Amino acid sequence: LKILFATPECAPWVKTGGLGDVSAALPRALAALGHDVKLLMPLYAPLKKLTARATRSVHIEAKGPWPASRLVCWRPKGLPFELLLLDCAELFQQGGGPYDDSGGDHARRFGWLSRVAALLASDATPWPQWRPDVLHGNDWPAGLAPAYLRTLPAPHARTVFTIHNLAFQGLFPLDRAPQLELPPAWLTPDGIEYWGRLSFLKAGIHEADAITTVSPTYAREILHEAHGCGFDGILRSRAERLHGILNGIDTSVWNPATDELLPMRYSAEQLDGKSLNKQALQERLRLHTDPHAPLFGMVSRLTHQKGVDLVLDVLPWLVEQGAQVAVLGQGDADLERALQDAAARHPGRVSVQLGFDETLAHLIEGGADAYLMPSRFEPCGLNQMYSQAYGTLPVARATGGLADTIVDLSAGPEAATGFLFEASTADALQVTLRRVLDAWSAPEVWHAMQRRGMQQQLDWSGSARRYEALYRSLR
Ligand code: ADP
Ligand code: GLC
Repeated sequence: LKILFATPECAPWVKTGGLGDVSAALPRALAALGHDVKLLMPLYAPLKKLTARATRSVHIEAKGPWPASRLVCWRPKGLPFELLLLDCAELFQQGGGPYDDSGGDHARRFGWLSRVAALLASDATPWPQWRPDVLHGNDWPAGLAPAYLRTLPAPHARTVFTIHNLAFQGLFPLDRAPQLELPPAWLTPDGIEYWGRLSFLKAGIHEADAITTVSPTYAREILHEAHGCGFDGILRSRAERLHGILNGIDTSVWNPATDELLPMRYSAEQLDGKSLNKQALQERLRLHTDPHAPLFGMVSRLTHQKGVDLVLDVLPWLVEQGAQVAVLGQGDADLERALQDAAARHPGRVSVQLGFDETLAHLIEGGADAYLMPSRFEPCGLNQMYSQAYGTLPVARATGGLADTIVDLSAGPEAATGFLFEASTADALQVTLRRVLDAWSAPEVWHAMQRRGMQQQLDWSGSARRYEALYRSLR
């Protein structure tokens, strides 16, 4: 199949979270199955210099409200699929990251990204030499693509829309419609209007031939009010088209036996290297270099979703038990401040690094003993899988993809890969951390769980086949 994968981010070039990782790994896995995949994303300012040597470009004429643009076609060495980078100075050259509020007009940015994806899949294409059979859009920035495609001449691709996080809905004032070439007839509650605004997410859910989300449990959860973010009714009305396909991990990037970002590589058979990584992490973060103190890591967007406040609540108790905590993240200002205060109160025991740091993220996975992920909701989550691959036991709330990928210790140490709890409360987290500390003081239990987690196959091969079967099932 020819597959056009439209996304706002793709690692290692642009990454704000898990979508960046998935956008690199799933196309790679689909290409390995023999498909011809091209990935469409904006040519953000920082990427421009990297693509100077790109060989081909396709001109897109200015039309209607849309500016002249071009597609820069670039295949970095070793990448099994081609990048189509949407170059449009007016829309993408200001600001740094994809969702940077500092100057970008997100409605137009991602309206245009969606529109170009749709054009490529129709007879109005600027590039007739390559026509996708499947248009696969990701999250609200690609949500309008299936809707636009219906208005274009000879739409010939089947459309799949993946929800990575229902909380991000692409909401804009209705009066933006003319600048987005959205017909007035669509601006109703039966169309893409959502409580007096227009929603890119709603367009994707409404118009795609199939909707997927990134774990089976989240696919069920979002049909109910508690996790539906206001979209549960719309999703229920399309429930027969909604599929939960679990994310995998890119084992060429996240594998402790080959990870060049770790000071010491290790495997399930040779776990000793992990203690050297722990020491390196403690030194780098100025934590006491104590091999016996259980070290809890967390690498995360600092938001309500991720339950950072629960971690803050239990932190004094956890430190009292002799544990250490290392947090890397960025996000809400009040959470950042509270974490920094906690670090200042517990020198040598709690470290908080604000910012985005890929190398430190790997070192935390490689050096920590356990990993904190008390998310209120989690569509899939990748870090709990990275943690298992790195012998770092995840401690997580039983929701979404966390429930699908972690086996709690209650199943027995030979079957378990981590610790799960139900209620979104600090008390429930603390009760679970007590269990974690008990397991830490029983090394044979701990090591059995580490080995079990590390020996799992967490890569993309199975899930890529599920996407392939879904693509083929669409008419
Ligand atoms: P989400 O997409 O909701 O943020 P995921 O668990 O799916 O959560 O993916 C998060 C990804 O982003 C992981 O690869 C994680 O390591 C990475 N990440 C998050 N915050 C940071 C940070 N501050 N520095 C480096 N990597 C980060
Ligand atoms: C989202 C979700 C996360 C998921 C990621 C990749 O950002 O919050 O749970 O793993 O997308 O699908």
